[in-house]
Amino acid sequence: MNDQLLRLVQAMPKAELHIHIEGSLEPELIFALAQRNGVKLAYGSVEELRRAYAFTDLQSFLDIYYAGASVLLHEQDFYDMTAAYLQRAQQDNVRHAEIFFDPQTHTARGVPFEAVISGIHRACQDSPVSATLIMCFLRHLPEEDAMATLEMALPFRDKFIGVGLDSSELGHPPEKFARVYERCRSLGLHLVAHAGEEGPPEYIRNALDVLKVERIDHGVRCLEDAELTARLARERIALTVCPLSNVKLRVFDEIGGHNLLALLDAGLTVTINSDDPAYFGGYLNENYDAVFRALPLTRFHAQQLARDSFNASFLDSGAKARLLAEVDAFFAEHA
Ligand code: HPA
Ligand code: ZN
Repeated sequence: MNDQLLRLVQAMPKAELHIHIEGSLEPELIFALAQRNGVKLAYGSVEELRRAYAFTDLQSFLDIYYAGASVLLHEQDFYDMTAAYLQRAQQDNVRHAEIFFDPQTHTARGVPFEAVISGIHRACQDSPVSATLIMCFLRHLPEEDAMATLEMALPFRDKFIGVGLDSSELGHPPEKFARVYERCRSLGLHLVAHAGEEGPPEYIRNALDVLKVERIDHGVRCLEDAELTARLARERIALTVCPLSNVKLRVFDEIGGHNLLALLDAGLTVTINSDDPAYFGGYLNENYDAVFRALPLTRFHAQQLARDSFNASFLDSGAKARLLAEVDAFFAEHA
């Protein structure tokens, strides 16, 4: 692999569209917040916690991810977590981030919705990186809980741009959330959903047909269905792919076996993302680095991935045009 290409990939301007902010909580910050808030953890040290990050599938990760989030109590905690992520993203030349947050993980513990969204939103406002918020519903909980969360969120409608669907995928198909997505659509919110990470291609199809999502989070299992793959390409539905996450959660055995290049060769709009960087071994540039080392990707792929990270974003057309021009100028300058 040529170092020049790896450096180019690190330095190019890019967007991140699939990052769970609770998944950016580093063990050191978990312990600092636990101490600040008097929360007792089931792990004795940072090292012991890190050793528990040996996941076998999505659920084994989620159990630890929700335990880590239990230290978040006050608005300032949410602010500190988000500020730390955005600072790290800036180092990776992230120009724009669309950040997921999971309010139900916090409101179920008695944390006010306002503390969650205000802390995260204030950190976004204070950052030089452009950042917007996507509120996720936990799919292992009933649709009524999602609907109640949406109602709780409405007084803060100006602080988030869309909704998503995350947590345990298998057994919780998109159609379980048909009514709450219909309501979100009528409110003019952007719609995305995790589908086809562990779930079958049918979940991707139903996310499109029933929930009417504009992007698919993960979606890597689409290649099992040629007709669906052709449709995703034709309709330019972007997939927010998370390479290191897919290896840690055993969607693929190793990074060299990831289907990213096959997705690109099928004509799909693909973006690279970190998912839960504190848990999966790397932030955005580490995800790019891993796939550029392991797969025969070229500078043309790099430019396409950078462009599509902005194309697939929910930025307005003016901001998109400016950032696409920035990408093209960067590649022209580094010919
Ligand atoms: N999949 C589903 N739910 C999640 C994830 C994920 O990768 N990360 C945080 N919540
Ligand atoms: Zn995710």
